[in-house]
Amino acid sequence: MARGEERAATVRSWCGDIAALVRAVGTRAPSANLSCVCGFGADAWDLLFGAPRPAGLHPFREVGAGDRRAIATPGDILLHIRADHMDLCFELASQMLNKLGDAVTVVDEVHGFRYFDLRDMVGFVDGTENPTGRSATNYTIIGDEDADFAGGSYVIVQKYLHNLDAWNGLTVEQQELIIGREKLSDVELDESIKPSCSHSSLTTIDENGQEVKILRHNMAFGRPGSKEFGTYFIGYAKTPKPIEQMLENMFVGRPPGNYDRLLDYSRAVTGGLFFVPSADLLEELPDRTPAAAPSSIDESHQDDHEESRDGTLNIGSLKGTPQHE
Ligand code: HEM
Repeated sequence: MARGEERAATVRSWCGDIAALVRAVGTRAPSANLSCVCGFGADAWDLLFGAPRPAGLHPFREVGAGDRRAIATPGDILLHIRADHMDLCFELASQMLNKLGDAVTVVDEVHGFRYFDLRDMVGFVDGTENPTGRSATNYTIIGDEDADFAGGSYVIVQKYLHNLDAWNGLTVEQQELIIGREKLSDVELDESIKPSCSHSSLTTIDENGQEVKILRHNMAFGRPGSKEFGTYFIGYAKTPKPIEQMLENMFVGRPPGNYDRLLDYSRAVTGGLFFVPSADLLEELPDRTPAAAPSSIDESHQDDHEESRDGTLNIGSLKGTPQHE
């Protein structure tokens, strides 16, 4: 068996182990709410599982220009591991990577944390307008529109680094106009004073007059000793479209030029789009092989993504997988 095929087979079989690993680690501390979401990028999906591909899955589409650009970066597999205690996340990540062995190379690993009362690194409460309950399900879970992949979801992740000295040089009132909410109370600014370029205005979108929401799980991360201060954006939706529209509004502007001033203080250094299979589909994935699996993968490209980026999250990269378009 060619090395590339062997690695793909390891990853496929690992898909069937994920639920058991989460159970094994989670049962040791049931109150810590361990969970793990596993997503696949477009190239990895094609290589591992072949057709059909989930309808909305494609490589992350870059938007913006110059310093204000949402860039696409390598990443075939995303693991979003959450728990109330870091030790569970650490243990699960270790167990997952043990199973994967040398079938993947970790290209980024971010250890996020909850910052005080759900504030992000720029000091604002983050997640307030998230949909909850049935509404969250309706906005995030694929239904009959893509029946083969019903019960799944899409996730877009981006790692943002903030220029915190510059941000903290602003007055609280200036920061509030940028976000569109009061900093201490988290109350939304009155429409009469909220600028159309505020973050909350540009990320409020509608389709045929109906507001379309996404589910965000942003996390703070950083290393004060290295002056690294970041927000890891994690957005779930039943199609990538609303998140892509929000990115367009933030980076290009609505109308163009009326962009999100948060980006004058924050730079996106990674970007990826992943399809998240339902738990049932994940269990079935070991049995799916692409009809026309590549007989071998060009080993000469295998070191292209060997080096870990600076930073930290479990976005693994299948060795030898073609990366971005
Ligand atoms: C530097 C990274 C980011 C930071 C620090 C940040 C922070 C915030 C904060 C503080 C709020 C207000 C409270 C809330 O409703 O959660 C907010 C709202 C929101 N953000 Fe972000 N965000 C970031 C990136 C993004 C990105 C990349 C998207 C989508 C592509 C996004 C989508 C949204 C949405 C949909 C809302 C709710 C808007 C509303 O309904 O009022 N955010 N964000």
